[in-house]
Amino acid sequence: MQLVFATNNLNKLKEVQSMLPQHIKLLSLKDIACDEDIPETQPTIEGNAIQKAEYLKNHYGYDCFADDTGLEVHALNGEPGVFSARYAGPQRNAEDNTKKLLTELKHKTNRNAQFKTVIALHLNGKLHTFTGICKGIITTQKHGDGGFGYDPVFKANGYDKTFAEISLEEKNKIGHRGKAVSKLVEFLKN
Ligand code: IMP
Repeated sequence: MQLVFATNNLNKLKEVQSMLPQHIKLLSLKDIACDEDIPETQPTIEGNAIQKAEYLKNHYGYDCFADDTGLEVHALNGEPGVFSARYAGPQRNAEDNTKKLLTELKHKTNRNAQFKTVIALHLNGKLHTFTGICKGIITTQKHGDGGFGYDPVFKANGYDKTFAEISLEEKNKIGHRGKAVSKLVEFLKN
């Protein structure tokens, strides 16, 4: 069985492939000669994941799955959410985004936030979604140089280190994307 993962990130692809039974073979966007920007114009994380999976199915005909992730901050009414990648502008720069987030939260005492990943799977004509959430807080300054995006300012509940200070293995275990991927893998195994 072949399944397209709407990504060209080979690390992500390998990681999910390693969790799947051998008869499921994952293909990247490159593998199906898709080099266009897949539209992500929906107002929600769920909406974007579904839009990407449906676009791929409709334009390329493959069963597939797509993921979308955002950081939802309580004191900012859920922002940056679906705008996480371009919070500080279209340059999509993690440094600028993090700086803007810390500025917006400067005088806020409630630092609660969550990462949310939604995976939308198009399989045998049906759409399924899998959600992974990781709750935590936004720190007042950056700590650590691992990870990417908002990792240096996010501490998962129960941890005294940011996502930029823990190993990738640990992050995958407790993190939003890892949880959503586990749900997808369990579904595909059955
Ligand atoms: P994407 O949907 O995986 O492309 O994620 C959208 C944006 O959310 C990224 O550009 C990052 O700014 C942020 N993001 C997603 N996942 C993570 C994460 O695991 N750590 C930190 N930031 C993340």
